Amino acid sequence: MKTRHFCVTDLIGAADLLRAGELVAFPTETVYGLGANALDELAVQKIFLAKGRPSDNPLIVHVSEATDVYKVASSVPPIAKELMERFWPGPLTLVLPKRNEISTLVTAGLDTIAVRVPNHAVALELVRLAGLPIAAPSANRSGKPSATTWQAVAEDLDGLIAGIICGEACQWGLESTVVDVTCNPPRVLRPGGASLESLREVAPNLVPYSPNSNSKDPSNSPGLRHKHYQPKAKVIVVDSSQSLVDQIPTATRCNYIGVSPPSDPTLFATVVVCEDVQQYGAKLFDFFRNSDSCGVDLLCCSSVPEIGIGVALMDRLRRASQS
Ligand code: TXA
Ligand code: MG
Repeated sequence: MKTRHFCVTDLIGAADLLRAGELVAFPTETVYGLGANALDELAVQKIFLAKGRPSDNPLIVHVSEATDVYKVASSVPPIAKELMERFWPGPLTLVLPKRNEISTLVTAGLDTIAVRVPNHAVALELVRLAGLPIAAPSANRSGKPSATTWQAVAEDLDGLIAGIICGEACQWGLESTVVDVTCNPPRVLRPGGASLESLREVAPNLVPYSPNSNSKDPSNSPGLRHKHYQPKAKVIVVDSSQSLVDQIPTATRCNYIGVSPPSDPTLFATVVVCEDVQQYGAKLFDFFRNSDSCGVDLLCCSSVPEIGIGVALMDRLRRASQS
């Protein structure tokens, strides 16, 4: 299949492809999404094929207005309405009871549906032009780091999907926070762009994300069962203030990323020093992909405090470092 590349001012043709049951990748404020008509089972099936995604991992549906949530969800509890009011459009995905008409292919057999309104003009305009709820997981091959640039999408999916919208690099670079609001108290299933601290201003009893509780109860966070975010190079999480000499075998090609420089920079082929944790999050997946394309063996990623976006960043680093 020849993949069409669209510029961001040319969304009508891309929306037509979505309405025709084809796949189109598009930028959001978090990561690029791989979109399909959520109401068309065959289109949704194409997502799983193109990504090589296990069918037990459900998809997030994107809508352009909060009121469109009722196109996919059968009811919206009061706490969800308050979260929508404060965080939409934005990097918060809510898990709600699903409408009967929504295929269980989208939800991987669950009776709940994940939905969000992205905070990105191109994503919103595309969804609005298509006039449909758009199912969109991250636009990477399954198991690889999420794509935060259109070039990364093309690297993984050119030839496998109908279109790519060539927007700018994503602002957050880490995926949305997923919150289950079908339970009381509501529960974070995946840390992401919306921080626990800010969510708790609206939902004070929100249960924080815990990797252990998720593994005990996998049906509640199916995506977390699978390998994720892994570059080819080995990833280790390090303390930048400590010497890294002992952790790097000789003759290993090694890159570094963090918010402060490493104590021994000569050990590294490339050193990426970010201005703050937010920029670190925005650059991480691109750093993984660039390092892989240069054939680097080891990636030293400096740890950050687990507050704000730091929780999501540390979650991605831990997953990437699991062998
Ligand atoms: O920022 C994002 O969320 C991006 C952009 C494109 O919106 N999308 C994204 O999708 O990261 P994906 O498929 O890579 O991750 C979706 C996550 C998975 O962990 C999945 O298991 C979870 O959401 N999820 C989806 N539906 C669910 C449901 N009904 N119940 C529990 N978890 C669900
Ligand atoms: Mg993903």
